[in-house]
Amino acid sequence: FHYPMPANEPVLSYAPGSPERATLKKVLAELKKKQVDVPMYIGGRAVRTGNKVELNPPHEKAHVLGYFHMGEQKHVTQAIEAALKAKEAWANMPWEDRAHIFLKAADLIATKYRPYMNGTTMLGQSKNAYQAEIDSACELIDFLRYNVHYLSEIYKQQPASAPGVHNRTEWRPLEGFVLAVTPFNFTAIAGNLPTSAAMCGNVVVWKPADTQVYAAQMFMRIMKEAGLPDGVINLIYVDGQVLGDTCLSHPDFAGIHFTGSTKVFNNIWQTIGANLPVYKSYPRIVGETGGKDFVLVHKSADVDATVVALARGAFEYQGQKCSAASRAYIPGNIAEEVKRKLVAMVQTMKMGSVEDFSNFINAVIDERSFDKIKGYIEKVKKDKKATILTGGNCSKKEGYFVEPTIIETKDPKSLTMCEEIFGPVLTIYVYNADNFEGAMNLVDTTSPYALTGSIIAQDREAITLATSRLRNAAGNFYVNDKPTGAVVGQQPFGGARASGTNDKAGSMLNIYRWLSARTIKETF
Ligand code: SER
Repeated sequence: FHYPMPANEPVLSYAPGSPERATLKKVLAELKKKQVDVPMYIGGRAVRTGNKVELNPPHEKAHVLGYFHMGEQKHVTQAIEAALKAKEAWANMPWEDRAHIFLKAADLIATKYRPYMNGTTMLGQSKNAYQAEIDSACELIDFLRYNVHYLSEIYKQQPASAPGVHNRTEWRPLEGFVLAVTPFNFTAIAGNLPTSAAMCGNVVVWKPADTQVYAAQMFMRIMKEAGLPDGVINLIYVDGQVLGDTCLSHPDFAGIHFTGSTKVFNNIWQTIGANLPVYKSYPRIVGETGGKDFVLVHKSADVDATVVALARGAFEYQGQKCSAASRAYIPGNIAEEVKRKLVAMVQTMKMGSVEDFSNFINAVIDERSFDKIKGYIEKVKKDKKATILTGGNCSKKEGYFVEPTIIETKDPKSLTMCEEIFGPVLTIYVYNADNFEGAMNLVDTTSPYALTGSIIAQDREAITLATSRLRNAAGNFYVNDKPTGAVVGQQPFGGARASGTNDKAGSMLNIYRWLSARTIKETF
């Protein structure tokens, strides 16, 4: 069975009067009316512990969407046991049968559950309809289909043989279970991390972020409907420390597929290092972590293109994309015009609930995040060393709202130029237009991260120079575009330095990490 290169799932517009908008509105009303009671799924069983945690929309925190059941240490153990029990049958299932489960899940989202994936993502994670559509519909569908294609390609790869010698490669799954730890900011990533490992024949323990459970459980139910056998993916909600203590000290721990903070990833890596004698194999460690993504503008840049790249790159989904533009280097010759037009554009962005489709900005994910972002803004206000060009107000009365905020600093190494804020805050530094070399140097040395970045320029020489000079500053480098919105199959996504292991989500490289090849030589 070989699955050819698919096409990307088309993005629906949700324009006023469109049928998809009407359907989505109906589903949003339905989701808001009922309260879900969300179990964990261990070995295919729905597990309710009674330790219930409320699910609330970040933009309307008084509303209760339902509850999820928090687990404890014994549920982690049960999840591992259920996974290991399912392993042999799953690993031995013919590839075409395994593949069709993931392809069917993609089709179920595309045709039947699209408004439910988008609706749960919108309400649970405070994403507007467009941001949900490109994530929980299109990107998730693409991950499922493209990964089946990539795995098909890998299975075809066989070594050479010689007269009297026949060689073959068996693309085995890893021995043991894989742990998937997934973030709140993309439902597609949450779905991709467990499924990419599982389709290779691995069994998975999956822990989503507490703030993403609403959409995660929807996806899990779709995987079950698509025919995923019990125990192949076990969805649990537990404290991160409890999860780590149990999974990372288990002899059958075979690898981790992680997206989250650099700090947590470093702790995981250290724990794995300390536990090496316990494991049967060296575990695979695959992680995408933080970012402090840049937009470098050259003096030849088109002003309007610059403004759009900055406004969309910094503020879509409230700047909570790991790829979001958060530091910009603007040349003096066009700085005033860029700032004026950018501020004007950002001030037209309406902020509020996801249910009003004219809102561009919604809430940030939770109180912790709100407090952290507000802390950075307050510090800038107090220090009086930088200027707030627009925004700066925060309110957590109804929900966790932070205005899109632009800071201009004269210090290119100031706090908000260096640290990941993970919110709608963009810091601008204006550089001498004739010192492009100096600006490139700042881009490369200001942050420990290297996830995404953009060069905006009309001058081909400047583009060539920046592309070469900044080769290690970003794993995804964009020319005349915003640094966000990588499309599966088109821009494999990931970064190096403190941004992760750069095993490119949505690529063959990533799929290889969930396989362990066996070479078989036969002489005759
Ligand atoms: N893939 C997302 C983007 O490119 C980030 O995770 O924006």
